[in-house]
This record gives sequence, structure tokens and C-alpha cells, in this order.
Amino acid sequence: MKVIVFGSGGMLGSDLVPFWQSLCEVKAFPHAACDVSNREMVKKILGIEKPDVLLFLAAATNVDRCELNRDYAFRTNTIGVEIVAQECNRLGISLVYISTIAVFDGEKDSPYDEYDLPSPMNTYGLSKYHGELAVRAFCPDHWIVRTSWLFGGGMKDMKFVAKILRKASMNDTIKVVRDCVGSPTYTADLAKGISEIVERFQFGTYHLVNGGVPASRYELARETLRIAGYSADRISPCLSSDFHLPAHRPKMEAAESIRLKILPHTLSLPDWKSSLAGYIDLMHRDLAN
Ligand SMILES: NC(=O)c1ccc[n+]([C@@H]2O[C@H](COP(=O)([O-])OP(=O)(O)OC[C@H]3O[C@@H](n4cnc5c(N)ncnc54)[C@H](OP(=O)(O)O)[C@@H]3O)[C@@H](O)[C@H]2O)c1
Repeated sequence: MKVIVFGSGGMLGSDLVPFWQSLCEVKAFPHAACDVSNREMVKKILGIEKPDVLLFLAAATNVDRCELNRDYAFRTNTIGVEIVAQECNRLGISLVYISTIAVFDGEKDSPYDEYDLPSPMNTYGLSKYHGELAVRAFCPDHWIVRTSWLFGGGMKDMKFVAKILRKASMNDTIKVVRDCVGSPTYTADLAKGISEIVERFQFGTYHLVNGGVPASRYELARETLRIAGYSADRISPCLSSDFHLPAHRPKMEAAESIRLKILPHTLSLPDWKSSLAGYIDLMHRDLAN
């Protein structure tokens, strides 16, 4: 099987590409090598590479920037997806589209499953939801994989967990919101889970997150410091309304999968706390080298 990855230069790509390279032939295209909103570029690459499967990781992920600049959000998250879905369909390529639990409004008081109805509450979620609709409309041979609250990559990615560790190493006290809940998910586990979905599951939409009890950002930050050997008391809880950010954040971004539980095959990812411990250990070893 030959696979190409669009948007390979981000946090998920940095763990997914090496893992998939251990399984099959993979060519990775970061943003600079392929802008998914450029149809000619997409056509040329797909025509040359002729992959069996395309993993679509490219996304405009800055949620506040999406809110302030709809062009930024829809160019990649919707129009780019539409172009790639159409070209994949034309060439008989199966498409894996990574989506988000932010397609829901966050008002549910328990984790979202695949049969809840999307109703995005910010522009990022809306643009990703329209991306899903484009995949379904233009490329029947697809897997849509919705996930939540990723951690992984290296310190350079500076997403939530890496930021908490960095602030702790600078002796800062850190205010973290306690009224938003999600399913923390390790990119390395997600990369492996996606490969299992492609190998064993029929086309369709799946929720894929680490197991364990969903956590607030506050609980995730405390667990991060506890594992890394810092005092968790450096984290102080606050409310999302304490920050005046352009984009509203859903209160509930935790997920579960009905489909991965009851289809003929089953698939589950490890508890997020053990995966977080593994990730922090890896980062410590990297920093020591
Ligand atoms: N991070 C999370 O917590 C989370 C949660 C749920 C779902 N997801 C989804 O998971 C996927 C991977 O997320 P991530 O955290 O790895 O995001 P990321 O670190 O922001 O990576 C996204 C990559 O896409 C690239 N990109 C942006 N616009 C592009 C375009 N027009 N053409 C080609 N590449 C483009 C970015 O390049 P530049 O940096 O140069 O713009 C970046 O390298 C995304 O689909 C995201 O929506 C993420």
C-alpha cells in the first residue's frame, strides 16, 4: 500500500508519519510542499504519486484566528478538503480525513458519540464540519476520524501539554480552566488507531480518543505536572469566562465511540494517563540527549 500525507508538518504529522513509515510506503507533504487549497498543486502531486490512501491532516487549527478571519478557516478546512476529496474520488484514492469533536456545540453533559448531531459553536468547528460534508459528498471511499485534545510531537509544537511543562520549568503559576472537559489523546496512539481503522474497518465516521475518564484542562495540567515531578499546586483553576478570547470554547469535547465498540471488530486506545506518562518520559529523554 502506498500512502501520502497532506499537512504532515504539524503535531499529529510528526508522530503519525514515522509510525506509518514503519508499516508501508509513505510520502509526507508539509504545507510548504503542498497547499491543499491549490487544486493544480494537489492534482500534480496525486497524478505523480498515485497513492492508494491519502491521510488529510492539514488544517487551520488556530481557533481564535479562525473566528477573526473566516477566509483563513474555510480556505483549508473546507475548500482544501473539497478539492482533495474531488481529486481522490477522480483517481480512486481512499481518503482519511481527521476531524474534531468541536463539530458539536459542547452542551451535552456526557461524551459525544458518532450518532450525536453536529452543531458547531465556533468558526473552527463550522469549517471542519463543512470539511466533513465535502468528504461525504465528493469521496465515498473515506474514513472520517474525529478526535479531541491532542498531545504529542516535540517541545517545538508548543501545544497545551508542552506549554504547561515549559511554564512549570520557569516557576510560573499557571491559571487553567476547569469548566471545559475533553478526552486527552496522544498523537502516537491516534496514529496507530488510524492505521487499524484503515486496515480493519469499513468506510464511515469514527470517534477515536484515548480511554479513561474525561478530564478538564485543569485536571490535565495537574496530571502533567504530577507525572513530570513538579508540584501540581502551581496550577490554579479558573473559568473560561475569565479569558476574553474571540472564539467560544465548547464546554464538552469528550468523546466515545459506539461504532468501534459494536462493529464486528473492536478498537480502543489506552488510558490517557498512561499515554501521557509515556509521552512526558519520551520528552525528558529527548531533552537529556
Ligand atoms: N490539536 C488538537 O487538539 C486537535 C483536536 C481534534 C482534532 N484535531 C485535528 O487533527 C488534525 C491535526 O491537527 P494538529 O494538532 O496536528 O494541527 P497542527 O499542528 O496545526 O498541524 C496542521 C498542519 O496543517 C498545515 N496546513 C495549514 N493549512 C494548510 C494548507 N492550506 N495546506 C496544507 N497544509 C496546511 C499546517 O501548516 P502551517 O503551520 O504552515 O499552517 C500544519 O503543519 C487537524 O485536522 C485538526 O483539525 C486536532
